[in-house]
Amino acid sequence: MQLLDGKKISEEIKNEIAAEVQKMKENGEKVPHLAAVIVGNDGASLTYVGSKVKACERVGFESTLVKLPSTTSETELLKKIKELNEDDAIDGFIVQLPLPDQIDTQKVLMAIDPSKDVDGFHPENFGKMALDMSTFIPATPFGILELLERYNVETKGKHTVVIGRSHIVGRPMSILMGRKGFPGNSTVTLTHSHTKNITQITSQADIIITALGVPNYLKAEMVKDDVVIIDVGITRVADEKSDKGYVITGDVDFDNVSKKASFITPVPGGVGPMTIAMLMKNTLLAREQKRL
Ligand code: GUN
Repeated sequence: MQLLDGKKISEEIKNEIAAEVQKMKENGEKVPHLAAVIVGNDGASLTYVGSKVKACERVGFESTLVKLPSTTSETELLKKIKELNEDDAIDGFIVQLPLPDQIDTQKVLMAIDPSKDVDGFHPENFGKMALDMSTFIPATPFGILELLERYNVETKGKHTVVIGRSHIVGRPMSILMGRKGFPGNSTVTLTHSHTKNITQITSQADIIITALGVPNYLKAEMVKDDVVIIDVGITRVADEKSDKGYVITGDVDFDNVSKKASFITPVPGGVGPMTIAMLMKNTLLAREQKRL
């Protein structure tokens, strides 16, 4: 079994980006600037956004954190987005999800200028992705592709089973794994809450990408020998022994599934750090496109 070490690979990617930023500085060019908007005080969301800002510092980007109260109206948020769209200093920005109930998420995502949509959630960018056009690929799927590529995991002709059809991970992943090229050329099955007999499907999978948010959902009995496992789950599970009072737990019963797997991502230290590194990559691309 080989571990797909997202922590290590994400450091390599951030080093590559930092080197690009260094060159920009030496040429007297503007460095990439990412803004992140967060509405409300959800602990996990604040942690993720904090990690994104920290990553900007690490690679030499400028960053702006926009914190809005949980009572923010849709109109107020749309106004903020308009400001960020029009601000030439900002190369790319994200609106951290989920948003409070009074705000229509789709309406907000559609208000983001596609050329600054470094999350790749705008329908124009999502459509381009599905049509194999050059665009911003959502950071988590982009990170998974990068991990598969850097570990040279064969995907051609393989049966990839994606568990979960979220707009952020499952749905784009199912499209990307079936595209021409590497990583891709897979035969893809997208499973979700209405899928019947899921074990029958997962036990035929060569590659399983699980983005469900149910701790330890995928058991050893559900997979075949030499399966490749990508665990996108990051659920906080209460644990008194831990300093923080919780541990981050994946969708996969790692101890048992790893005994059968050929490659597997750990949680934490697998997909999570890759997501942040690829957001940095997309922000660099946003800056470079403006230079052209
Ligand atoms: N919430 C969970 N994942 C993400 C992500 O990749 N981007 C944003 N904006 N919100 C998220």
